[in-house]
Amino acid sequence: MPAAAADPILGLTDAFRADARTGKVNLSVGVYQDAEGASPVLATVKAAERLILSGESTKAYLPISGDGAYTREAARLVFGDALTESGRIASVHTPGGTGALRLAGEFARHVLGVKQVWLSQPTWPNHQGIFGAVGLEAKGYPYYDATAKNVNFAGMRAALEGASPGDAVLLHACCHNPSGADLDTDQWSALAGILGERRLLPIVDFAYQGFGDGLETDAQGVRVLTEAGLEVIVCSSFSKNFGLYRERVGVLSLLAQNADDAARVMGQAKALIRTNFSNPPAHGGAIVSTILLSDELRARWIVELDEMRARIAGMRFALVDGLRAAGATQDFSFLLEQKGMFSFSGLTPEQVKILREAHAVYIVGNGRINVAGLTPANVSGVCAAIAAVL
Ligand code: LMR
Repeated sequence: MPAAAADPILGLTDAFRADARTGKVNLSVGVYQDAEGASPVLATVKAAERLILSGESTKAYLPISGDGAYTREAARLVFGDALTESGRIASVHTPGGTGALRLAGEFARHVLGVKQVWLSQPTWPNHQGIFGAVGLEAKGYPYYDATAKNVNFAGMRAALEGASPGDAVLLHACCHNPSGADLDTDQWSALAGILGERRLLPIVDFAYQGFGDGLETDAQGVRVLTEAGLEVIVCSSFSKNFGLYRERVGVLSLLAQNADDAARVMGQAKALIRTNFSNPPAHGGAIVSTILLSDELRARWIVELDEMRARIAGMRFALVDGLRAAGATQDFSFLLEQKGMFSFSGLTPEQVKILREAHAVYIVGNGRINVAGLTPANVSGVCAAIAAVL
């Protein structure tokens, strides 16, 4: 067999671990780090774990779809109270957001008979792999205009108007990965019109809720789609906003037109899960539901989430200031407009390579920088390294 290519994101972290140089900086994988460069367990997660440990009475299997308290509260974060209580949503626990995307792809391909999925250009590289693995043909729609440093909505619209009825369209709910450039409300409304007219199926990747402008604001794009009456598939991840990366905590929520359809959707989703991972692990979902169902823990968690978002915003300023101080002559102020963990720097693959080889600064090959990995201690060195490769 031929050797497999290293993963463009997680493969870099393997290379980073093997790098013996002191002062190396990993700004590749999207993991939040605090000002000291650590990725600690959130205090509210620790508190929830203590409650779970003392109250846990069994390790028997969960239902195929997971714990209903967890999946319902996860759906509530995305869709709000009214739809969550409407009976129109089938939601199931998946191993992380990746597991939700994989299941969404299987559902689209094998249950609905979808043949093509449209992906933003650029997008998270794993989207191609996930949807290719289930037999969907990936098509690209223009998304990020590298010159204007913003969304190319005219290009996106033109491409999707040429999509075939029944195609799926992968959308990023907020904090577009990798560009950090999001649709505004008018663009979401226009998009809802195209999806409805062309009879396209939206699959929404929602991995960064709370990292853009806040929990509710970040859900506005999805809410525009649901208010337009569309059926929507949403893939939620709690890796980032609860810091539960290694617990693999995701939810696939499928919004149907009515409760009867939702019940059949749920049956099909369970059949797919049964032949894949059979039923989900309990611990991560229990943490999320324990926090979301406790007024006190929920309020404290929102404070922790707000702190993460504020620290990232502060590091964006430090990055832009630091690049100027390091002598970079280009205007990098566009980095301040980007949302979420990442900054899309515009660095070329060659510059990224020199950054890694000569300066031990690891960023993703498409120029994506994990701003959440910058700290007061490493930012000036990173800026000097970037200025040196420009
Ligand atoms: C990322 O984009 O860095 C994260 O979503 C982690 C991953 O699995 O790639």
